[in-house]
Amino acid sequence: MYTLKRTQTCGALRASDAGRTVILNGWVEARRDFGGVLFIDLRDRYGKTQVVFRPEVDAALAELAQSLRFEFVVAVRGVVKARPAEAVKKGMETGEIELEATGLEILNESKAPPFEVTDEAAASDEMRLKYRYLDLRRRPMQRNMVTRHRVLAAFRESMDAQGFLDLDTPILIKNTPGGARNFLVPSRLWPHQFFALAESPQIFKQLFQVAGMDRYFQVCKCYRDEDLRADRQPEFTQFDLEMSFVDEGDVQAAVEQAVSHVFQKVLGVTLPTPFPRMTYAEAMDRYGSDKPDIRFALHLVDVTDLARASAFRVFSEAVATGGIVKGLCVPGGGTMSRKEIDELTTWVKGVGAKGLVWLKGEGGTLGGGSAKNFSAEELAALRSRLGANDGDLLLFVADERGRCKVALGGLRTMLGQKLKLVKEGSWEPFWVVEFPMFEAGPEGRPQAKHHVFTSPMPDDVALLETEPLKVRARAYDLVLNGVELGGGSIRIHRKDLQRRVLAVIGLQEGDIRDKFGFMLDAFDYGAPPHGGIALGVDRFVMLLLGLDSIRDVIPFPKTQKGQCLMQSAPGGVIPKQLDELHIALKPAPEDGRAG
Ligand code: AMO
Repeated sequence: MYTLKRTQTCGALRASDAGRTVILNGWVEARRDFGGVLFIDLRDRYGKTQVVFRPEVDAALAELAQSLRFEFVVAVRGVVKARPAEAVKKGMETGEIELEATGLEILNESKAPPFEVTDEAAASDEMRLKYRYLDLRRRPMQRNMVTRHRVLAAFRESMDAQGFLDLDTPILIKNTPGGARNFLVPSRLWPHQFFALAESPQIFKQLFQVAGMDRYFQVCKCYRDEDLRADRQPEFTQFDLEMSFVDEGDVQAAVEQAVSHVFQKVLGVTLPTPFPRMTYAEAMDRYGSDKPDIRFALHLVDVTDLARASAFRVFSEAVATGGIVKGLCVPGGGTMSRKEIDELTTWVKGVGAKGLVWLKGEGGTLGGGSAKNFSAEELAALRSRLGANDGDLLLFVADERGRCKVALGGLRTMLGQKLKLVKEGSWEPFWVVEFPMFEAGPEGRPQAKHHVFTSPMPDDVALLETEPLKVRARAYDLVLNGVELGGGSIRIHRKDLQRRVLAVIGLQEGDIRDKFGFMLDAFDYGAPPHGGIALGVDRFVMLLLGLDSIRDVIPFPKTQKGQCLMQSAPGGVIPKQLDELHIALKPAPEDGRAG
């Protein structure tokens, strides 16, 4: 028990409270000693208040206060004093007042923290993750967590209002290799058998639809043992939903309503609905990406027809060997130095393209770079096709179709950031639709682009066995400011079609039964037409806060190498545990780490 229980939080006091005696509880953030008069900033999750200990008010108390150090947990009683107008601390919510202490209880001491727990993160990422509980005390991180909460609360509110049921699904599930790599959990009760940690509730939410649970949703954890990036974690959170008797438009409308509600509640921003739609083919052609940032209008322009007959062999040979040529016109980019352009070339080569051809708009035609390889007519045609003006920079990639789009699309994204073409604070969500159903896997065999339960477009079903890579899916992604926020689809609800799709990806009848038998059995008992989607919560919160990494919005994330530095996990287990599981370990790789 402690006696000085707070009457207020550290963010609550204002000038109107002057004269009141109150009690605050919190952590010591700052400490300033002016010849015996001690000022501390007391922090809790609601804010900060300056507390002053004056020897003339209470000498013994001022003496005790001298022992306070950073991150001590204290309870302070005091009288609220208004500051004179010229001393009001701007930018501090409680800046109009300070608390003149009349009582102090030290609730706990703290070792000197390994880094200053202040708004500015001066510590390394490793230190921040190792001492995550200290990092989370910092105001920017508290703001991130509060925003995370508000996003989840608003989402749940909208789902409830739309009549969705919040139902949970198991985490320990059957291992069905195929999608992302699963984390495996050995079974003690069934030696040599494994559970997988659910990579998503996909199968269960579909079975909910078979079970008549129309309009299911869940905020769920997903586990994927994949390579990590700034927007990928091995354990992440989804807004997951599934609906019966729907088509694409119904699912998209439900999501638009929820996402708009979140924007309204969290940012006070009204998003126009319905969100625009763009086909996958158009996204790739115009932006070279299936998740383009459409906040800036830098479009990829096809010049394959002009390149075919070009005297410039880089162009004509690329076309002759089945490739394409696309260009980007960077307004005002003509001021870029040779060195900067060389860096762009190095970049496109880094993503597998053969090279970058560049020209500059000058003297009413094009010059610089490779200009000498083109005839005057060709230069005029390129200039006109790309709508270039003097002072612009024109960049071209001549390569195999996919590589050309990806290289130039990546360059577009990079230039958008480098040249600050994006209007900050603007939000442009849109749907990418009609994704290909399959993509070529490692051995050229088709593999599902979204997942195997996605329905092909009715017009393309006939191509399933003959030209699977041409089949379009009833799949849709929600893209926001260049980030894939969510993905979903209308599902296959008929067993015969599901079997055909599983066969296209090379599953034999035995495999199909083994992996998906329970699902196909369920489809024997009246599966309704259904569809759904999942949005990445971490990415959503990251975008709303204008951050670059989902680690900053996940309370206890893993590092890029998939570790928890705070717990030192993963870690070893004792031999007895392995014995119980009937597991014997092979020698570890030399550096203790795979891959
Ligand atoms: P998908 O695999 O596209 O679809 O995932 C949906 C959304 O989840 C987010 N996401 C991630 N976020 C952080 N770290 C990761 N490793 C990670 N992987 C995915 C993304 C992505 O758009 N069951 C299907 C959905 C459906 O069809 O209904 C699914 O999981 O924002």
